[in-house]
Amino acid sequence: MDAIKTTGLMHTYPDGTKALSGVNFEAGCGERVAVLGPNGSGKSTLFYHFNGLFKPTGGEIKVFGEDICNDNMDMIRKQVGLVFQTPDSQLFGATVFEDIAFGPKNLGIKQQAVNERVLGVMRRFDIEELAHKNPANLSGGQKKRVAIAGVVAMEPDVLVLDEPTAGLDASGVTGTMEILDELNDEGKTIIISTHDSDLAASWADRVYILNKGKVFRSGEPKHIFAEEKLMAEAGLKHPVIVQTFREFRARGISKGETPLSVLELMDSVDMNVMTIRCAIAGCDVIAGEEVILEMKDGMLIADNRGSGVRGKVVFSGKKGDDIAVKDVSGDLQQLAGSIAIIRVPGITEGGTRVVETEKVQQLLLDIMPQKIGAMGTSAKVLMGRMNMRCDIEFDVIQSGILAAQRGFNVAVFASGGMAERAITKIKEKNIRHSLNII
Ligand SMILES: Nc1ncnc2c1ncn2[C@@H]1O[C@H](COP(=O)(O)OP(=O)(O)OP(=O)(O)O)[C@@H](O)[C@H]1O
Ligand SMILES: [Mg+2]
Repeated sequence: MDAIKTTGLMHTYPDGTKALSGVNFEAGCGERVAVLGPNGSGKSTLFYHFNGLFKPTGGEIKVFGEDICNDNMDMIRKQVGLVFQTPDSQLFGATVFEDIAFGPKNLGIKQQAVNERVLGVMRRFDIEELAHKNPANLSGGQKKRVAIAGVVAMEPDVLVLDEPTAGLDASGVTGTMEILDELNDEGKTIIISTHDSDLAASWADRVYILNKGKVFRSGEPKHIFAEEKLMAEAGLKHPVIVQTFREFRARGISKGETPLSVLELMDSVDMNVMTIRCAIAGCDVIAGEEVILEMKDGMLIADNRGSGVRGKVVFSGKKGDDIAVKDVSGDLQQLAGSIAIIRVPGITEGGTRVVETEKVQQLLLDIMPQKIGAMGTSAKVLMGRMNMRCDIEFDVIQSGILAAQRGFNVAVFASGGMAERAITKIKEKNIRHSLNII
C-alpha cells in the first residue's frame, strides 16, 4: 500500500493562483522520495496537503489508503510529520527543549516519556547544548535542525520535509541526511523537496519533477537523470556526476548507464581504452625497463623490486616523477585495500552507552586502519568519546570504497542498520571486507 497517494490533486489559492493542476503522486511505504522543481512549481503547496493542513480544491489524497477528513485528522497528524520550509513558521516554544517536547506532549504522552524522547532526539541531532536557548535566537541552520528534531520526536510513520538541507553547512547536510537514512532503515517513509539534484540523484528511490503545478516527470533517479533534455526543460541543473559522465562519454572514456555517484562514474570508465597507466616512479627508471606496480599511500608506484603486477616504462624518469607504464600484466584490482565495518549499536539499540571502549581499541589494533570513517549519529558519538580522528565524514560508504580501491585499509564505524547496507554495497564492488559487531 502507498503511504501517500494523490490523484488529480488541484489547489487554487484564494487569489486565483492555480498552484497545483492535477498532480498524481505516490510514495510507497518505506520509500525515499525526492521532489525537485523550480521556485513556485508547487512543492510546498503539495506538501501542505500530505498531513491535511490544506484541503484540495479538486482531486483526492489518501494517506495509508484513507481519505483525509475531520474525523481522522488527529490520526493523520500522528502518521504524517511535516517540516516546513522556513523553520520560523514552526518554532514557537520558549526553549528548544520545550519546542521539541510540544509535539509529543500534544499526542498525550506522559511527561517522563516525553522528556526521554526529547533527550534522545536532541542527542541524535547533536543539539543538546541548545536545550535551554530561545529558538528565536538560533542561527538559521540550528533552527532548521531543531524544527526537524521536533517532528522526528513525534515519531510519525511518514516524514515530509520541505527543503530540509537548504541553508545547512556540509556536515549539517550529511548529518541530517544520515538521520533520515537511519529513520528510513527503521521503516519510515521519507519525502523531501530539494533544489539539489546531486542530492536527489544519490539519495532517492523515486524522484518527482514538478513544474508549474504539474508533475513534469517521475521515476527512478537512474532513468530521470539519464534523459539529456529533461532537466533543462524542467529548469533544473544536471547532477555534476552526470555532466562529467557525458563529457567522458563524448571523449570515448566512459560507457554504460548514467552514473549517480563518483563510484559509479569510476565504474563507467572503460579501462580498455586506457592502455597506458600513469604511475609515480619509486626509483629512477629508463624507457623500456620492466617495473613492478604497487599501491603506496593511495598512489600507484612503479619500482624495480618486488613481484606482482608488471609493466614497461614508456619514458625515462627520475624518482618521484609522473611516468607512464604500458603492457601491464597482472590484476591491478589485487592491489586494492580492504574495509572493516565496525557496527555500533544504533540509537534505538541503546547507542554507544552499551559499548566497551577497550574492545574497540583492541579491534582497531587488530585492523590497523590507515583511514577511519563514521556513519550515523552513534558512530560519530563513539569516535568523539574515544578522541579518534575521523578521516571520512561525507559519503562514507562511497569514499571508503574509493579509498580501498586506491590501496588503503579502511575502518568504518557504522550505526545500527547502516552497517548491513554498507556491507551490501562493498560486496557489489568486490572489495575485501569484514563485519565486526561491538
Ligand atoms: N498563500 C498563497 N496565496 C497565493 N498564492 C500562493 C500562496 N502560496 C503560494 N502561492 C503561489 O503558488 C505557487 C506555488 O508555490 P509553492 O510555494 O508551492 O512553490 P515551491 O515549489 O514550494 O517554490 P520554492 O522552491 O520557492 O519553495 C506559486 O506561484 C506561489 O506564488
Ligand atoms: Mg517551497
